[in-house]
Amino acid sequence: MESIRINGKDFVPYISNDKIIAAVDKVASELNNDFFGSGVTPVILCVLNGSIIFCGHLLPRLKFSCELASIRLSSYQGTQTTGNVREVIGLDMDLTGRTVIIVEDIVDTGTTIASLVGQLKEKGAADVRVCTFSLKTDVYKRDIKLDYVGIEIANKFIVGWGLDYDQMGRQLADIYILKDQLE
Ligand code: IMP
Ligand code: MG
Repeated sequence: MESIRINGKDFVPYISNDKIIAAVDKVASELNNDFFGSGVTPVILCVLNGSIIFCGHLLPRLKFSCELASIRLSSYQGTQTTGNVREVIGLDMDLTGRTVIIVEDIVDTGTTIASLVGQLKEKGAADVRVCTFSLKTDVYKRDIKLDYVGIEIANKFIVGWGLDYDQMGRQLADIYILKDQLE
């Protein structure tokens, strides 16, 4: 794996595709343990755009019936969170009484996930679970339980495998870290 440059910033390899896939397998088996044979048909809620790749790898590994819905939220500009969450594409599904599994690429401060969980409960969802590919463990201070977590990472800006820097780099098969932030 080699260093890459996106919009004038240098990124170095951080998590290889092998480790990414192992994390997807782990999360899928946890979900299967909870939902296979449960009789519940959850709604898998893909949080666009970042979660497209994670969600696309996760779904074929699930051994229980589920529905797929998507929502598009935005809180980041460049490498900084703005603190307010905008809904860019809304949800068009009745969630009353449903079990919803939010699928996120990354939880950082938790602003996005807290706003989304609140919104889904307001819409009448009976059970809202959070499934995130990655978690910035040292940053996340919210009370909301993160039910399924793929990989814990340091408080650094990462790109690749769905995650972007200014909308670029989502297609990368591995995850890279901002070089300036390496100590
Ligand atoms: P939060 O609201 O602070 O938890 O931030 C969550 C959202 O910010 C994620 O869904 C991502 O879209 C974006 N984000 C947070 N950290 C990173 C990162 O390191 N790289 C790329 N996007 C990130
Ligand atoms: Mg996201």
